[in-house]
Amino acid sequence: MLAFTALLVLAVHLGPVLGSPVLQVALQASNQKPRGLHGRFLQITDMHPDPYYAPRSSEKTSCHRKKGKKANNQAGLYGTPYSDCDSPFKLTNLTFNFLDKKWASEVDFVIWTGDNARHDNDPKLPRTPDEIYNLNREVASRMKEVFTSRGIPVVPSLGNNDVWRPNGITNEFSQIWSTFIPFPYLQVFQRGAYYSVEVIPNEVAAISLNTMYFYDSNKAVGGCPFKNRDDPGNLQLDWLEVQLKLYRDRNMQVWITGHVPPSPGNYFPDCYTRYAELSLRFQDTVLGHLFGHMNADHFGFVEAIDLEFTPDETETDKDKKKHVTLYDELLEEYSTIPTKAKDLDFAEYAVINVAPPVVPNPYLPSFRIFSYNVSGTDGARRAPKTTGKRRHGHKRGEHGNREALCKLKKNRETWKCFLNETWYSDPGAPSRSNQQYTPLGYAQVCHARTDKVRALICRVQYYIPNRELTGANKTHRPRFKLEYLTFVPSMLHPDDQDATSEFHYPIPLQHLPRSLREPGVTKSRYAPYELVDLTIPSWVGLAQRLGDSTQRQLRRRFRKYMYMGGEEG
Ligand SMILES: *[C@@H]1O[C@H](CO)[C@@H](O)[C@H](O)[C@H]1NC(C)=O
Ligand SMILES: *[C@@H]1O[C@H](CO)[C@@H](O)[C@H](O)[C@H]1NC(C)=O
Ligand SMILES: *[C@@H]1O[C@H](CO)[C@@H](O)[C@H](O)[C@H]1NC(C)=O
Ligand SMILES: *[C@@H]1O[C@H](CO)[C@@H](O)[C@H](O)[C@H]1NC(C)=O
Repeated sequence: MLAFTALLVLAVHLGPVLGSPVLQVALQASNQKPRGLHGRFLQITDMHPDPYYAPRSSEKTSCHRKKGKKANNQAGLYGTPYSDCDSPFKLTNLTFNFLDKKWASEVDFVIWTGDNARHDNDPKLPRTPDEIYNLNREVASRMKEVFTSRGIPVVPSLGNNDVWRPNGITNEFSQIWSTFIPFPYLQVFQRGAYYSVEVIPNEVAAISLNTMYFYDSNKAVGGCPFKNRDDPGNLQLDWLEVQLKLYRDRNMQVWITGHVPPSPGNYFPDCYTRYAELSLRFQDTVLGHLFGHMNADHFGFVEAIDLEFTPDETETDKDKKKHVTLYDELLEEYSTIPTKAKDLDFAEYAVINVAPPVVPNPYLPSFRIFSYNVSGTDGARRAPKTTGKRRHGHKRGEHGNREALCKLKKNRETWKCFLNETWYSDPGAPSRSNQQYTPLGYAQVCHARTDKVRALICRVQYYIPNRELTGANKTHRPRFKLEYLTFVPSMLHPDDQDATSEFHYPIPLQHLPRSLREPGVTKSRYAPYELVDLTIPSWVGLAQRLGDSTQRQLRRRFRKYMYMGGEEG
């Protein structure tokens, strides 16, 4: 039945746009039948396969050598949870095989946010550029086999562990990723390893950024200084601005994706300022921001306040912060969000989502399935947004003494003093209110267990004690299980009234735990957040709840998911 309705949607959906050159190219390129939309996509990140990984070796050697002395510091067959070791290929393969069997025909596109080589953490086995490229080739070839061959667009971005001297790599990657990068973007990719893909032609694009030009650990770039317009970070942000303008003019929606998430801690200050300004200026065009790298499940905000001048941090402030965990920092950030509606302006926020990794370093393997609203994808194109209705408000420079501060020598030539464009904020945009293409929720899936030496688990209560798991066991492979979902349980069973051509379960029923498969469940331990959608107001609402120190249980859940039952690594 589901297959039948999907076919119907597809036929009607494609009718009016078949003439589009973009779509024809897409169809020719993939040599596939056109496909209907499922309203889901996959985000997968930080796979870190390691060809030297040796089961039963000692964790202290990055799981490369020696026999672990005790069962509890021996490398596991499918990976070593909560350790500093990377993934054995067995885990990479298990993940792809699982995606191939269970998810590849359920998703519309794949956001793949980097780090496909092992860490360079073993002095006895230094990583070489060739090794990085080979590992990337292997992972890319599995991606092609599982997704591209089915006509599903895959949008990779470059991770810090995929890079060998940031500048010499773009040629190599334009070959490794040649099937993923649309032809018109190859030239820009050669320049900077960023590009964009229309994952739903003429409707939704995914922009893949090269965050190595913003990441402040990268000493080979200048950090987007105002004075140097040719800095690679500035050139990339100029390009991003043009992309966002073009997509906005075409009434399209955009996911911004990349490896290192934007935050004042990760990005050079001027790169961060410009990123924040573009996120807020194009809030009506950007559906969301998807990143990886941190190996901890969380979300944060880019805020209007980031564009203001704030007092310089003193050394004591910095000292105090040294020992603060990411969890504590996030709670502090959340608690500064005003709780009274009249003090809160959603135009001042953009949400940064950070997905946890496949590598169990230092937590547990997982990936995310996002659901999004596919209402109205039945052929009738969305009515073009009328710019007349849009609230153009929010000019920069209203706050404080910007003018005076911008006269000071230290500020005079920073981006903060020059960003004065009008913001396109619109409470009616898909990032602010649920409609076509609005993200609705995600289900996070992770490894349930392995049967050898150490357990790969999702939730601490499923932990299998080591002593029960010693000895070889090739018959029982680890399984992926649902870790949690952001949805309200009732959303998992859409009303039968909607069972027309647009009938879609956000998560296919067979992928739900038994307790959620029947309608009527109102509370579930799998659904701790109960978000009605993933709009900016919903994320701000969750942050407000987490910012409230009396919400102990919710904070405990958030923390547990963040570190998957472990401690901050
Ligand atoms: C993983 O899969 C690839 C390709 O299917 C295969 O060549 C390789 O031997 C597999 N590795 C392991 C450890 O299973
Ligand atoms: C905006 O900034 C530019 C310099 O980047 C300046 O030339 C222009 O006058 C400013 N516009 C307004 C309205 O402040
Ligand atoms: C999708 O958006 C439409 C409005 O365009 C809304 O009526 C509908 O409830 C949304 N669907 C879901 C599943 O939230
Ligand atoms: C493998 O492990 C499972 C569960 O831990 C157990 O039921 C099974 O007997 C084991 N098989 C072998 C061959 O040890």
